Amino acid sequence: MKALVTGGAGFIGSHLVESLVNNGLEVVVVDDFSMGKMENLNGLDNVRIFDESVCNYEFMHSIVQNENFDYIFFLSAIASVADSVKRPLETHKVNNEAVLDLLEFIRSKHIKLKKFLFTSSAAVYGDSPELPKSETSTINPLSPYAIDKFSSEKYAAVYSDLYNIPTVCVRFFNVYGPNQNPESPYSGVLSIITDSLINGNHFTMYGDGEQTRDFIFVKDVIKALLLVLNKGKSGDVYNIANGQETSLNDLIVKYESVTKKKLVISYVDGRKGDIKRSVADVTKLSSLGYESEWSLEKGLKNYWDFLQRGKQ
Ligand code: UD1
Repeated sequence: MKALVTGGAGFIGSHLVESLVNNGLEVVVVDDFSMGKMENLNGLDNVRIFDESVCNYEFMHSIVQNENFDYIFFLSAIASVADSVKRPLETHKVNNEAVLDLLEFIRSKHIKLKKFLFTSSAAVYGDSPELPKSETSTINPLSPYAIDKFSSEKYAAVYSDLYNIPTVCVRFFNVYGPNQNPESPYSGVLSIITDSLINGNHFTMYGDGEQTRDFIFVKDVIKALLLVLNKGKSGDVYNIANGQETSLNDLIVKYESVTKKKLVISYVDGRKGDIKRSVADVTKLSSLGYESEWSLEKGLKNYWDFLQRGKQ
């Protein structure tokens, strides 16, 4: 079996590649290394890595034409909402046009695949007040990023319904764990908190810390992705989350207890457009047989231990 993972050197992509390799697949990674890192793939055999953008259509076409992939995982994205607000046209090219181009190439050249999996985001729900957010909740994309993710989802669904290409989509909630890049202020909050704990920097809390999120450890995400890949219905979309609502304040208490460190917090006003509460309905994912193996405490401990090992 052979898989293409776009964005395979990134945070979630690198964990997926590791898991696919461990399951005996031959893996090809396409990553432009704008956020991904080569070191995320260190020590993995049976992986070929191309430093290319998914927007290089000529390259993408030739690789898909020549390699006979069984699976394509489309994880590459400019994953920053803020970036999409600043550069909507450029982010659109990666987050939407490149997906459509690849689907269209697969259709027009009659490429046979077992599954094309596209990774979307809880951002598509925007600030719709329904909680928990189920796949049938109101969609209200509020940024170019969210619009592009939703549009790509819909193209994937339509390419399944109209052209019989086996596609499936997932919506990630707040994923955390090793390999998450803390470099931007819009990186995942847990990577920023972790960085602050390691370096003794102040953590800037936007608001009072009572905002909630549905945090899921990256190893649970990979388990969910493989379930959706194998059992998900073509043309469908699945939330990937734990279904548990945790406030930032509670998260920090738990993390301090795991790390035996005290986080120094500076409080500032809430971020414009920040969502107050977020939690997923994971009934649909559970119906495929998904069960979490990583409680928040266990995931935080693994993340922290991983970083401590890296420092030795
Ligand atoms: C996440 C996604 C975002 C998506 C949204 C949709 C990430 C990194 N972001 O945003 O792309 O649009 O879900 O639901 O996955 N915070 C601080 N201090 C910091 C950083 C963050 O207090 O230094 C706060 C934020 O204001 C927010 C919470 O922590 O209230 C979580 O922030 P973040 O990790 O960026 O995730 P989302 O806001 O959920």
